[in-house]
Amino acid sequence: MTKLRAGLIGTGTIAHSAHLPAMQYLGHDIELVAVADIRAEAAQAAVKKYGAETWYSDYRELLNRDDIDFVDICTPEFLHCEQVVAAAEAGKHILCEKPMAATVDEADRMIAAAKANDVMLMIGHSRRFTDRYRNAWQAVAEGRIGNVQIVRENERRPIAMYSALDLATGYWSPDGDRPWISDPEYTEGAALTNAVHEMDLARWFAGADALSVQAESRIAGEGVEVADFLTYTITFKNGVIGGAEIVNNLPSGYPYFHMLEVYGDQGSVRADDPDQSPYAVWSQGGMQFPVNFDQLLHIDNAYIREIGWFVRAIQIGAPPPLDPWDARQALALSLAAVESSKTGRTVFLSEMEPSSE
Ligand SMILES: NC(=O)c1ccc[n+]([C@@H]2O[C@H](COP(=O)([O-])OP(=O)(O)OC[C@H]3O[C@@H](n4cnc5c(N)ncnc54)[C@H](O)[C@@H]3O)[C@@H](O)[C@H]2O)c1
Repeated sequence: MTKLRAGLIGTGTIAHSAHLPAMQYLGHDIELVAVADIRAEAAQAAVKKYGAETWYSDYRELLNRDDIDFVDICTPEFLHCEQVVAAAEAGKHILCEKPMAATVDEADRMIAAAKANDVMLMIGHSRRFTDRYRNAWQAVAEGRIGNVQIVRENERRPIAMYSALDLATGYWSPDGDRPWISDPEYTEGAALTNAVHEMDLARWFAGADALSVQAESRIAGEGVEVADFLTYTITFKNGVIGGAEIVNNLPSGYPYFHMLEVYGDQGSVRADDPDQSPYAVWSQGGMQFPVNFDQLLHIDNAYIREIGWFVRAIQIGAPPPLDPWDARQALALSLAAVESSKTGRTVFLSEMEPSSE
């Protein structure tokens, strides 16, 4: 197979903890040519550790190179549309982190740009590439639990999840005072940071698009400015009910976990990860666990599979292993949950369509 030449945009937390190590592991298929980040120290750390030839502070310079086959975009979601459209127009195949974008309209523009420029676009919904969810889905697909009735998820995250990791930099602070991930100007909080994963899994397991969402959110932590607690019920068009509870701001020693349970009329299946890390240390500095991407978030090499299958699809001219439409629908669900939690009413997915605005 031809080795593909890659550029990575946004060398922050998820790039250093998952994408760059996975690309290095996939060295037989991928050559990392260049990275781009507006923070020189983050980009330089990627060059030093992962052997990219060079780095740019302006991602457009990376896109101008004609020796790059695909880009991996690891910036926050409010930058995805601009960067994905620019990459498509530069003729690069694109892998882009979740959430797909900040609005459904942006997601549609990204899909249209990829189509118009005949490049592959895939959104990195990493849990779709995780063994335990794939196995659970297989059990459902084989009919082992009968007809799906309810999809139930729980996610708990401590606030200091990344704080103890030995990363080159912390989260990016666009205005210099607080990280984008906790700044209401840049994010809606748990709905986009975490729930978009749960939304995607729920829709996948339900096997249908959603009709409506009813959600409640809270800012539970002291000094927090974006929703750190979210609970919701989804009614899918085939009658399946999806529900989740997400808390992403628990005290730093709290063991984080994710649970997905699917109830059918003849049984149930559960993908449970109460302890994703082989060992952890709790001290005054918070929780510490090994900086090893296959032990972080997705214990069974989800990012190797995500990036490896994306690259293989380009090499053999196959469609992407995950259609960007799925990510677009998960985003619409998350935004519907935000709208419901703010207005207190049931939000129909039809209201999230750009044509209905
Ligand atoms: N798949 C998952 O489970 C998962 C996990 C964590 C994060 N994410 C997603 O990854 C994305 C990034 O999150 P993060 O935690 O790495 O954030 P981060 O703040 O740690 O990293 C973002 C990086 O983008 C850089 N950047 C900002 N503007 C830029 C520009 N114009 N050009 C190039 N680089 C620019 C910042 O300097 C920073 O290094 C988010 O969309 C987040 O939701 C996904």
